[in-house]
Amino acid sequence: MKTKRITFIGGGNMAEALVSGLIQAGHDAANITITDADASKLAALVASYGVTTSQDNNAAITHADVIVLAVKPQVIGNVLADIGANISLSTTVVSIAAGASVQTLKEAAKRDDIAIVRVMPNTPAMLGAGMSVLFSDERQTHKDNAEYILAASGETAWVADEKELHAVTALSGSGPAYFFLLAEAMQAAGESLGLSKDLAAKLANQTALGAGRMLAESGRDAETLRRQVTSPGGTTQAALDTMYEEELPITVRKAIQAAAKRSRELS
Ligand SMILES: NC(=O)c1ccc[n+]([C@@H]2O[C@H](COP(=O)([O-])OP(=O)(O)OC[C@H]3O[C@@H](n4cnc5c(N)ncnc54)[C@H](OP(=O)(O)O)[C@@H]3O)[C@@H](O)[C@H]2O)c1
Repeated sequence: MKTKRITFIGGGNMAEALVSGLIQAGHDAANITITDADASKLAALVASYGVTTSQDNNAAITHADVIVLAVKPQVIGNVLADIGANISLSTTVVSIAAGASVQTLKEAAKRDDIAIVRVMPNTPAMLGAGMSVLFSDERQTHKDNAEYILAASGETAWVADEKELHAVTALSGSGPAYFFLLAEAMQAAGESLGLSKDLAAKLANQTALGAGRMLAESGRDAETLRRQVTSPGGTTQAALDTMYEEELPITVRKAIQAAAKRSRELS
């Protein structure tokens, strides 16, 4: 796998996150090519990772084993219309664009025969703590190629039905923002109780990190961890009682349902 030639179309935030993960996992930078319209962005990527770069998408995919489409959903149609005819049958095309279905991508490329794997990553991939969910109907080799790339920047999971990606987008794709909002609200609450802004932010943020690590590393589920820190009649219980009275779990469910609906509309 480490010798696979991977071409990223688009050298933005997500591409850099995935490239950084691959290099840290030992992938040879000589086998990674990144294209972008912005030459200064490409120069920065060369300086940071030693990758090859190009401003010519068609030239960059010529010998690629895997093409990662890492441009915004609004431009992915134009990119595929341009390179579609030059995508080899043996190449795996990985799309991380939110909302663009396999069928839409094939139509944009005017190719029904190319192998596409759709992925919904999330931004913690930038720290190697991403959650990427993949879908594909293609051969196992194509799935393995995509899995290899995404596993280098965090956890992976697969769905068997492409439609499930709407729920995935709503939960893990948009999910980091929900935790950021909670951290903001906790910080504001701390300030309202008289703590300085800096201290309130530090307490909220470090608590989020600690709770996240406990969820990931303790081997216990969220409900068990919550029960373990909630003494009957104590301070945590007083806070949680208020959250239940204000129907926080119902609000979260409605919010994630709204995000899934929006994902369906956008696609
Ligand atoms: N960020 C997230 O949380 C997240 C999560 C899940 C999925 N995604 C998906 O990941 C994809 C990339 O997101 P991002 O945040 O990395 O976006 P981004 O930072 O805007 O990166 C996209 C890059 O592609 C470049 N580009 C535009 N047209 C191009 C072309 N024709 N050929 C080559 N490069 C081109 C852009 O250049 P210019 O800036 O000059 O246009 C930009 O540098 C999106 O489809 C998004 O839906 C993102």
